Amino acid sequence: MRTWRAEQIQVDGVARQAIDYQSRDQAEMIGMFARYMSPGKVTAMRQLHYDFIPGRRDGIRIWDLDGNCFINCRSSGGVFNLGHCPPRIRAALHAAIDRFDLGDHILLSAPRALLAKRLSELLPSDLQYSFFGTSGAEVNEHAIKLARGLSGRQEIVSMHGDYFGASGLTMQASGGNWIVGNRDAAFKEIPNGDLEALAAAVTDTTAAVIMETIPATYGFLMPRRDWFVRVKELCEQSGALLIIDETQVGLGRTGRLWSFEAWDVIPDVVTVGKGPAGSYYPIAFCTWRAPHDRFFRERPLVHTSSFAGSDIGCVVALAVLDQVTEPGFFEHVQAMGARLADGLAAIDRDYPGWIVEVRGRGLLFGIEGPHEQAGFALSRACLKRGLLAIAALNRPSTMQLMPPLISEAADIDEIVAVLRDAIKELAERDGRARMHAA
Ligand SMILES: Cc1ncc(COP(=O)(O)O)c(C=O)c1O
Repeated sequence: MRTWRAEQIQVDGVARQAIDYQSRDQAEMIGMFARYMSPGKVTAMRQLHYDFIPGRRDGIRIWDLDGNCFINCRSSGGVFNLGHCPPRIRAALHAAIDRFDLGDHILLSAPRALLAKRLSELLPSDLQYSFFGTSGAEVNEHAIKLARGLSGRQEIVSMHGDYFGASGLTMQASGGNWIVGNRDAAFKEIPNGDLEALAAAVTDTTAAVIMETIPATYGFLMPRRDWFVRVKELCEQSGALLIIDETQVGLGRTGRLWSFEAWDVIPDVVTVGKGPAGSYYPIAFCTWRAPHDRFFRERPLVHTSSFAGSDIGCVVALAVLDQVTEPGFFEHVQAMGARLADGLAAIDRDYPGWIVEVRGRGLLFGIEGPHEQAGFALSRACLKRGLLAIAALNRPSTMQLMPPLISEAADIDEIVAVLRDAIKELAERDGRARMHAA
């Protein structure tokens, strides 16, 4: 296992202390976080039993400052798709840092051009032009601006439970839980999967429909077969753009490079946050079909951001794309996903009644339990046993399970063993509670 040596890094003073934080006392650091950063967040983390501070991290595991080890099946929604500190990405990052810095976002850039070219080769049809941002929210902002600028329309249609970020426009598209202040009337939310509501909402005043293919924060509800066909038809009829956000489900998570491939739908705009960062460096992208570039030809500087598409980030994202497109990568994800699905089916056979539904594809799972807060109950039971996963915040009856895509068969077996033990505890406890209530 790789050991991490702070003393090799030439920094002084408090910066050095921050790097050498692994020797810090966990309780002291949590106290410092509460005192100077956010007491509210510490309280919330405590309620969820996530009140620890990650220290060492390596591959699929993290250790807190007290030395407790967790398999990371949260993967921060895709940031850690390739595990923590993946060696190939680290090497690319080191090489980039040795040669250059962020770059100047107003100027042209070779790493940005190379990354955009690579994406256009990896995306279908004429999805050709790209913008790079620092977050999923930023690239979704960019997509919404494109749709509005191109059409001259304001309305954005989204689906209940989808999440696109917590910034100005994306907060409006993400709906109730995320909005501070009033919802802008131009943002229309329809029930997820409701074809009638969709047909009523998408009209000749709609600039775009923005959606996830398999809504992550909504517990990975699987879309009905005809859903995307109809969405695309309605967008084409009304002249609205279809923006598909692949942040949690793209880059190999579902056993394909892009999850939308499974539904034979070509979006007008694709956005991806999290995964391109390769665990190390914030970068996200938004790619649109060639004809839609008309708007940016008229207003090429309409969306700028100092750190967006930094030269270093582009090198990291290129290294991520190299790794996930290597021969055998998707087959590995599919095989590990099938192994995990078999494990969950066996758990359900042995402890019937607790799991209501397992949804998923590739190494993406939503485990729905028998009550409204079941996702939190399961994540707590897993955490106690050294597995980090989180309830779907827009559907807390479900726990999201996203093991890193580099997980091997032995890792999957370990994950299944933890889930078995956790679900056994919950099934027995809920069974006892039902007996007492009867
Ligand atoms: C599907 C999806 N889109 C966008 C975002 C926002 O990304 P970021 O947190 O990088 O702004 C998220 C974050 O969880 C997400 O899950």
